[in-house]
Amino acid sequence: MGAFGVSVPAMQVLGTGAADLEVAVGLLRAGRLVAFPTETVYGLGADASNPEAVRAIFAAKGRPADHPVIVHLPSADAMDGWAADVPETARRLAAAFWPGPLTLVLHKAAAVDPVVTGGQDTVGLRVPAHPAALALLERFGGALAAPSANRFGHVSPTTAQHVIDEFDQGVAAVIDAGPCDVGLESTIVDLSGATPRLLRHGMISPGALAEVIGAPLREAEAREGPRASGRLRSHYAPRARLRLVARDDLDALLAQAAPGLRVAVLARRAVPVSPSSVNWIELPADPEPYAQRLYAALREADATDPSVILVEQVPDAPAWRAIADRLARAAA
Ligand code: TXA
Ligand code: MG
Repeated sequence: MGAFGVSVPAMQVLGTGAADLEVAVGLLRAGRLVAFPTETVYGLGADASNPEAVRAIFAAKGRPADHPVIVHLPSADAMDGWAADVPETARRLAAAFWPGPLTLVLHKAAAVDPVVTGGQDTVGLRVPAHPAALALLERFGGALAAPSANRFGHVSPTTAQHVIDEFDQGVAAVIDAGPCDVGLESTIVDLSGATPRLLRHGMISPGALAEVIGAPLREAEAREGPRASGRLRSHYAPRARLRLVARDDLDALLAQAAPGLRVAVLARRAVPVSPSSVNWIELPADPEPYAQRLYAALREADATDPSVILVEQVPDAPAWRAIADRLARAAA
């Protein structure tokens, strides 16, 4: 039941078999929204060539209309249908990293509706690596516009249950393929200007990109504007206040915490002796498994409605850069 006792149809949960993917394709062709797994996070998919369907994404997410959505393609060959003046660098990056967690921002093709691009003259493109996403794209036979399947500004979903928890209406179905492998959103590189710019850190590192580009990658500055919502200072946020703390400060803070204060902790070590009012969530010590677990851990922490979530700072090293970026925005 929704508000005022009006019953709203529940989100259909689909598997990854052929029959279920056909159901998903039917819904997408009818202009409905279908959430699907990618290797990074779950996406909220709509037919990218149907402006009404794409508009429904913005309505469901509560997302401002000037924030563009990524267009997911079945293969790099489809790039030219969506982008104009595709530079050689884009082809090299696509060959090196697609399918995979990299989004390329290019000049849009004339036919791309402004609702997809948030009114900009560029379009974000990505070929996801998840087998279910690729199978869906191939059966659909077109492109799927898909932002992360969460309400605007909230933590991205890495399981189908997270998607169900985010939306009580507006989403017809979710394809459940278990937890995502990468766990953080794709790296975004803007190739529409004179030199490549990094718009969002991800698990494909600036170093790996620079090697393929053959030149260092310039990082977009904050004042260059939040053309990507992932660049807003506050984003990827749980409901509870989140504080980043150094390892040593964490122990001191917990020792001083008022009795009964509900605190959640995300740390890369097992629970030390600590009060029972602390919900201690242990995360892996290495960056890849840490990234994979992070968003689920933030949701688990949030679920106990703590006064604060204390997150132990992660190492200041290139492999942790994308994680540190998300934590800083979640804390802002
Ligand atoms: O890993 C991902 O990228 C996931 C999965 C579902 O593919 N998608 C995702 O989408 O994170 P979203 O919309 O939550 O974040 C994509 C970011 C947004 O901040 C959006 O503003 C930016 O990409 N973006 C998309 N097209 C753009 C463009 N033409 N110029 C600048 N930024 C763009
Ligand atoms: Mg998002």
